[in-house]
Amino acid sequence: MKHIGIALLGLGVVGSGTYKILQEKREEIKKVYDVDAEVVCVLERDLSKADALNIPRSMVWNGIEEVCASDKVDVVAEFFGGTRPAKDFLAAALRAGKNVVTSNKELLAKHWKDLEEAGKEGNACIFFEASCVGGVPVIRALEESMQGNDIKELYGIVNGTTNYILSDMTLNGSDYQSVLKECQRLGYAEANPAADVEGYDSTYKLSILSSLAFRKHIDYTDIKREGITEIAQADIAFAKENGYVIKLLAIAKNGADGVEAHVHPVLVPSGHLLASVSGSFNALYVVGDNVGELMFYGRGAGMLPTGSAIVSDIIFSATRERKVRYPFITSENEKVLSDFQSACYLRFDNKDKESVIKALNAKGVKYEEKATGEFAAFVLSAISESLLQSIIEETKPLGYIRLM
Ligand code: HSE
Repeated sequence: MKHIGIALLGLGVVGSGTYKILQEKREEIKKVYDVDAEVVCVLERDLSKADALNIPRSMVWNGIEEVCASDKVDVVAEFFGGTRPAKDFLAAALRAGKNVVTSNKELLAKHWKDLEEAGKEGNACIFFEASCVGGVPVIRALEESMQGNDIKELYGIVNGTTNYILSDMTLNGSDYQSVLKECQRLGYAEANPAADVEGYDSTYKLSILSSLAFRKHIDYTDIKREGITEIAQADIAFAKENGYVIKLLAIAKNGADGVEAHVHPVLVPSGHLLASVSGSFNALYVVGDNVGELMFYGRGAGMLPTGSAIVSDIIFSATRERKVRYPFITSENEKVLSDFQSACYLRFDNKDKESVIKALNAKGVKYEEKATGEFAAFVLSAISESLLQSIIEETKPLGYIRLM
């Protein structure tokens, strides 16, 4: 039987969940995978967290140097979040020949290349199933199950906090701030929830998913980003009356003209599979040239769903013979098209209706006027992003949302 020694860096929500799952499944994993996965040490300053899990003090080690120097440790699983000290700790572990498992999407989006290089130096690998769509095995599916395809399109609901907020605003008419507080209480939101509601978290995840899917490095800073902070009840009412559901989508396409990648709210037709993904659930809708359309669905955040993906990576790291490498993660980032096409809904004060019609006509844009009581709403036919931005600048809508 292969024995693997595990170091857990941090015993926060997901670190604790991972410890619990590893304890509970240890015997089963031995039987099924012939692997004895044993937590040999943790790094955690708050000793009460170790006490709460009955982890003896002898297993709470002093620092990353001790972990890197120990031949008892084969895999280092990181739960700090953020890039400091996670980047330095994980690079050191990789250079010391330890495989690394992480759910840290920000770290990967910002420093994947450096971690890859450290891994090559130490002949070790980085595993990150838990970084995107939480417990749903999308990374493994993109890497290991779609070799017979060119992946053409990805549409993801990849942030549980924003999906929870939008769902609650839609179903219960709740106000944005109170639902955000609820997400923080449930442990879905990031330490700084601006990362969720302003769409940064989704750009990190889209950078990882689209890079894997297209085998090209899509840098997160090249992904156009808009969050959900401007969505009003009037927009939700418009969506309901016109057969849509508002979702924060992470979209990437690999077309003949190049790659497009953007994160923003979208009016999703209520009959589309993605429209039924509610609350903290996540989904990734994938289009491959041979398989056609697939959808992966499940919990994208939380202690046990994320811990489930971490444990899967720990076992995968022990059983996988081939070194998993990402040769497309270079400093040569893929050029991302800024001028993608989309149809868009725009909402104005009724008093501005005539001037908006004039502006749209002057630009030769086709549109449909939609009756709403209080506001004037228009749905523009698909136009380029640059034209859309010039219309927004000129007409200053109270709200706007692109259509799927
Ligand atoms: N804040 C993230 C979310 C956690 O809400 O999806 C999981 O990455």
